[in-house]
Amino acid sequence: MEDAECPHGCERQEKAGAQSPSSDEFQPSKLGTKEYWDHAYERELQSFYNSGDVGEIWFGEESMDRIITWMEMQKIPKDVALLDIGTGNGVFLIELAKSGFTNLTGIDNSSTAVDLAKAIAEKEGVRSLKLQVADFLHPAPNISQYDICIDKGTFDAISLSPDRPAEKRSLYQRTLHSVLQDGGLFIVTSCNWTREELVNHFSEGFEMLQELPTPKFQFGGKVGNSVTALVFKRKE
Ligand SMILES: C[S@@+](CC[C@H](N)C(=O)[O-])C[C@H]1O[C@@H](n2cnc3c(N)ncnc32)[C@H](O)[C@@H]1O
Repeated sequence: MEDAECPHGCERQEKAGAQSPSSDEFQPSKLGTKEYWDHAYERELQSFYNSGDVGEIWFGEESMDRIITWMEMQKIPKDVALLDIGTGNGVFLIELAKSGFTNLTGIDNSSTAVDLAKAIAEKEGVRSLKLQVADFLHPAPNISQYDICIDKGTFDAISLSPDRPAEKRSLYQRTLHSVLQDGGLFIVTSCNWTREELVNHFSEGFEMLQELPTPKFQFGGKVGNSVTALVFKRKE
């Protein structure tokens, strides 16, 4: 057990109005804006062209291993239709492809993220990924349906929006329900929301199947998880 804060460089965000315990909103953050991610990926794209550095892997390599190992233990078919919501540099999809998964789609509303993901996939020789610029909160009416949706840090980012975060979380939940097949799986990794809070956010239309083990930390005599990883199943 670690006696430290989050080892992934992700601090649990302060809830807004600490005096008001009923508040479930975070302090708005630049991480909740599209401008922030556009600029971040412009820098990362430049750095990838200059040095081959793929940029930040949100929650570290172990966050990808944890999910891939779980999928393999569950004997999830390799051709399962999988959507990575807010794929960023697409490295997680590249790792899934290297593990044999064949039907992989990633969306991001930052076109620079998608450019970066395409450049990295090409360099890695992974040509099967479907990478698209799309806003998960405003999906195209003909958006495909998926067996698995993965979110690593995107629900967190949306929750930090300075503009109507509760409405955006609700939109997120509705889109998720519409793009997942009945019985489909949603695997979410978050550093801002606890297990109880995530279960509450997705209580409508989803049931929690499993919590994936993540490193624990100790702070001020309390033990907690720096990152929460949960698997939900879509209900009718
Ligand atoms: C914390 S980063 C995580 C990136 C990636 N999932 C990873 O694990 O490295 C959040 C990502 O969500 C994307 N994002 C934020 N809001 C989005 C939305 N409404 N639709 C699609 N992508 C979004 C951002 O552009 C960014 O790439």
